[in-house]
Amino acid sequence: MPVKLVAPSLDLLPAYADALRRGWSADNVRGKAAADEELERISADPQGFVDSLDNPDSGGPPVRRVDGSLGPRLPSIRRWLWDDGFCGSIGLRWGPDGGPLPDWFPYGHIGYAVPPWRRGRGYATEGLKLLLPEARARGLDHVELTTEADNPASQRVVVKNGGRVVARESSGTLHGGAEVIRWRIDL
Ligand SMILES: CC(C)(COP(=O)(O)OP(=O)(O)OC[C@H]1O[C@@H](n2cnc3c(N)ncnc32)[C@H](O)[C@@H]1OP(=O)(O)O)[C@@H](O)C(=O)NCCC(=O)NCCS
Repeated sequence: MPVKLVAPSLDLLPAYADALRRGWSADNVRGKAAADEELERISADPQGFVDSLDNPDSGGPPVRRVDGSLGPRLPSIRRWLWDDGFCGSIGLRWGPDGGPLPDWFPYGHIGYAVPPWRRGRGYATEGLKLLLPEARARGLDHVELTTEADNPASQRVVVKNGGRVVARESSGTLHGGAEVIRWRIDL
C-alpha cells in the first residue's frame, strides 16, 4: 500500500480542512465541536495552525488536563496519513526530557483517527507501523496506547503492530468513563 506519513504543511492543509468540514475530527472525544474550532483557527491563521501541530520541543500554549486544570504541553509530533489524499491523522507525544509520560496524561504515547470514508483499508495499521520507528528514533524503548474496550477496530490496529494488553480499567474520566484497555508495544 502506498500510504505514507507526511508532516502537516500549508499546501496539504486544504485536504485536512475538507475532512473537518465533512464533520470528521482527530479528536475522538470532542468530535464535531473540535472540528469546528480547528476550522476557525485555520481560517484565522493557517500557518499558525500548521505550526501548532508539531511541537517536538514542548512549549506552546498550555493544555487542559483530564482534571480540568491547565498544564504545560508535552513534546509531540503530528503526522498525516497520505495516500491519494488525506486519509487520517496520527500523533506521538512523550514525556518531558525523554522520560515517561506524566501521570496526569493518561492517553498513552500515540493516538490516531481515520475519517469514516477512508476506513477498512489498512491505513491506521500502516500509519502506526510507520510511526513506531520515529518513536524509537526519539529515544523511546516502548510506547503505550489506550483503546476503548468496545473499539475492536482500534484494538486490531494495535495487535497487528505487536501490542500486548497491560491493563484494563473500568472507571475514571478517561475516554468519557468507558472501559479502557492499556497496551504496550516494545520498540
Ligand atoms: C480505529 C480506526 C483508526 C481504524 O482505522 P482503519 O484505517 O479503518 O483501520 P485498519 O483498516 O488499519 O484496520 C482495522 C482493523 O479492524 C478490523 N475491524 C473493523 N471493524 C471491526 C469490528 N467491528 N470488529 C472487529 N474488527 C473490526 C478490520 O477488519 C481491520 O482488521 P483486519 O485488517 O485484520 O481485517 C478508525 O476506525 C477510527 O478512526 N475510529 C475512530 C477513532 C478511533 O477510534 N481512534 C482510535 C482511538 S484509540
